[in-house]
Amino acid sequence: MGIVVHVTKTPDSSTISVRRASPDDAQAIAEVGVAGWQAAYRGILPAGYLRGLNVVAREVAWRMRLESDDDDMAPSWVADRAGRAIGFVASGPPRDDDLQPAEGSPRIDGSPPPAAEIYAIYVQPDAWRSGAGRAMLSTAVQEWRQRGTTGLVLWVLEANAAGRAFYEHVGWRPDGGRQDIDLGGVTVTEVRYRFQELPLGWSDTLSNSSFREG
Ligand SMILES: CC(C)(COP(=O)(O)OP(=O)(O)OC[C@H]1O[C@@H](n2cnc3c(N)ncnc32)[C@H](O)[C@@H]1OP(=O)(O)O)[C@@H](O)C(=O)NCCC(=O)NCCS
Repeated sequence: MGIVVHVTKTPDSSTISVRRASPDDAQAIAEVGVAGWQAAYRGILPAGYLRGLNVVAREVAWRMRLESDDDDMAPSWVADRAGRAIGFVASGPPRDDDLQPAEGSPRIDGSPPPAAEIYAIYVQPDAWRSGAGRAMLSTAVQEWRQRGTTGLVLWVLEANAAGRAFYEHVGWRPDGGRQDIDLGGVTVTEVRYRFQELPLGWSDTLSNSSFREG
């Protein structure tokens, strides 16, 4: 098991620990991803498309991703409860042109990445509202901030009211970015959120938990 970076007590007193994901987590992450999509996007994306989501294909892609992050620029974490991975968060360099380093200013080795993106965060539906999402996102934000990154963004479906409520509760705000994407044969709109700079003690508002290594 990897280093545990974040431990939190859930409302029902069970313990959730957050740790860096390893290739051995690929299957669990794929299962959480498919179950999460099917539950979260019911009524937003076509039912047939959601039914057809494939755990095995996602597992293969995740294993490759987790095995190939040699420069540690695309960290992912999982949340464990009672020995089972119940959620994951994935992050890495931003995909948006407006967040790329200015042309002509190549990154100096060791300099902090100017911006990072949270690509996805999903919790197994039977563990929604357990505190797992908050614990994982807080871990990712802290890690990127420790690396010196100042701009943190993510994209969320405009119609995903629950996901947006979660992000807004833990310190993220829409930054005006919008894009239409094709998913499952329909066009849907995504909105971009940005993590807000918070005053000293900000981490208390994200998490009621303790950090340790072990
Ligand atoms: C969004 C998600 C990752 C949040 O994880 P979670 O473990 O369920 O959320 P937490 O228990 O950490 O919630 C923290 C706070 O966010 C807010 N929140 C979470 N889910 C919410 C919802 N469905 N509606 C309104 N507010 C919500 C609440 O204020 C909550 O605190 P509270 O329970 O003490 O009131 C999870 O619900 C999920 O996987 N959803 C489906 C996928 C998704 O939408 N992902 C985001 C877009 S990529």
